[in-house]
Amino acid sequence: MLADDILRLKRERNAVILAHNYQPGEVQEVADLRGDSLELSRAAAREEAEVIIFCGVDFMAETAAILSPEKRVVMPAAGASCPMASMITARDLRGFKEENPGAAVVCYVNSSAEVKAESDICCTSANGVEVVASLAEETVLFVPDRNLGRYVARFTEKKIITWNGYCYVHDRYTPEDVSRACALHPEAEVLVHPECRPEVIDLADGVYSTSGMARRAKESPSREFIIGTEVGMNYRLKEENPGKEFYPLSEKAVCLDMKKTTLERVRSALETLEPRVTVPEEVAGRARVAIERMLSI
Ligand code: 13P
Ligand code: SF4
Repeated sequence: MLADDILRLKRERNAVILAHNYQPGEVQEVADLRGDSLELSRAAAREEAEVIIFCGVDFMAETAAILSPEKRVVMPAAGASCPMASMITARDLRGFKEENPGAAVVCYVNSSAEVKAESDICCTSANGVEVVASLAEETVLFVPDRNLGRYVARFTEKKIITWNGYCYVHDRYTPEDVSRACALHPEAEVLVHPECRPEVIDLADGVYSTSGMARRAKESPSREFIIGTEVGMNYRLKEENPGKEFYPLSEKAVCLDMKKTTLERVRSALETLEPRVTVPEEVAGRARVAIERMLSI
């Protein structure tokens, strides 16, 4: 069986499998750790295995490669990418900085290594507010996600200037989606991701990173939840909370790149140790400063 092959190869290769919360259920099943971007970055930094099999999209695997350059990072889904990350280039960011001298640059981890290398500090959906609070500068350039930037701006006196990037999965939710879901499930608690638009966030009961949602679902006295993030999240929520109900805010919230990982590809990645993800040290060295500064908070 595929899953048995994967477990055997994993031992033979001294490999660890990390999977993002949006990965297909069968991939989450074979993972050693599933988590949000912050947890996976921390895991990649402390990991002792020689090989990291990263089930997610390229910016996540690149972050692992930047933090653990001595390890072999392999991403089974060759070419899986986050469209939001390509909404800003290093050249764009240099221009943005020239227009706003003296501002600090906070870069969401959903970005290329080159953009991280041009930034002062990274953040994830789990720690954006703390990252901005840690800065001495009063003006912050926040790239690339305008929605996360606007969400963080609710919790600070600092001036936040956002880039105009967005996630096509989260940005398409509307207030009408929330009203419709709430009419169908009036008792449900509404949890949304901070990549959603402000008018959707305004209607939610709570705003969380993906693993933040997993914690909230366990702790909450509610029995029903409407989940405003990529539909893959519901697999973990249902598995961890058998007595509770989870309804997607929209069935259309599918990140196509997150679905490119298959068990066949995971097995092939373990057999061949390809496709390997690497970041040239000239870029990785500068990007590492921004990521490690975030991890030290
Ligand atoms: P999390 O860090 O909350 O898991 O989010 C990553 C992501 O890509 C959300 O779309
Ligand atoms: Fe990127 Fe959105 Fe997919 Fe997350 S869900 S990886 S932000 S496109």
